[in-house]
Amino acid sequence: MIKKCLFPAAGYGTRFLPATKATPKEMLPVLTKPLIQYGVEEAVEAGITTMAIVTGRGKRAIEDHFDRSYELEHQIKGSSKEALMDEIRSIIAACTFSYTRQIAMKGLGHAILTGETLIGDEPFAVVLADDLCTNNGGSVLHQMIEVYEKYQCSIVAIEEVPMEETHKYGIIAGDLVDGTDNIYRVSNMVEKPAPEDAPTNMAIIGRYILTPDIFDILRETKPGKGGEIQITDALLEQAKQGKVIAYKFEGKRFDCGSIDGFVEATNHFYSKI
Ligand code: G1P
Repeated sequence: MIKKCLFPAAGYGTRFLPATKATPKEMLPVLTKPLIQYGVEEAVEAGITTMAIVTGRGKRAIEDHFDRSYELEHQIKGSSKEALMDEIRSIIAACTFSYTRQIAMKGLGHAILTGETLIGDEPFAVVLADDLCTNNGGSVLHQMIEVYEKYQCSIVAIEEVPMEETHKYGIIAGDLVDGTDNIYRVSNMVEKPAPEDAPTNMAIIGRYILTPDIFDILRETKPGKGGEIQITDALLEQAKQGKVIAYKFEGKRFDCGSIDGFVEATNHFYSKI
């Protein structure tokens, strides 16, 4: 059973300056909902109710968002506006949220290791909120948990990207397993390779299921690409033992860490209203 979901949310979001000067990038809204709420809803849909959020300086709005706001609720009580709070209210009622701060920005691997205190010794999910995923059936995280239940090892979600974009992603190589056309046993992974160094065009997107031995590996992982501690490098250690599966998910991902992807997501959700 995967009971906890970790949200690394300490990054500065410099690509969205000045919007992210005083507002966490995870709080930027696609229509009326902040990015991180989409991530939390995806986790809830996958049966997870314990949210572990790695924050940093200037991120208090995230904590306030997942808390009651008595004044506001009093103000809108009995008005038509009340319904706008239904979704967030039911999330707050169903879930627990815990927070820890990443003091120094030393990479995604370091952020995940910082979350160990909230996760403990159990397998867990990781959602990078700036990858916004949607699917008509089960959510991407839901699909991944089903894969985890079968393979009982770390799982990364992947999609094919144009070769010229490999430098934006962790890239995997591996072989299809069990006669499937969407599940690979990972043999190699490289963080943000140039196209000429990329083993494939299969890119990791911001959804992971990790087994807790990843924490010990991360403690030993040296800074890699960009001088940062990379989760991709730690996962490669598990992959060498045959313990990483890559899953080509069903659904659509929007890269809301980029302005193009953010606008695309906004248009997509607006077209569904
Ligand atoms: C991180 C990971 C990368 C992964 C990506 C998915 O990079 O380091 O391996 O492909 O998330 O969004 P970031 O986008 O934080 O630079």
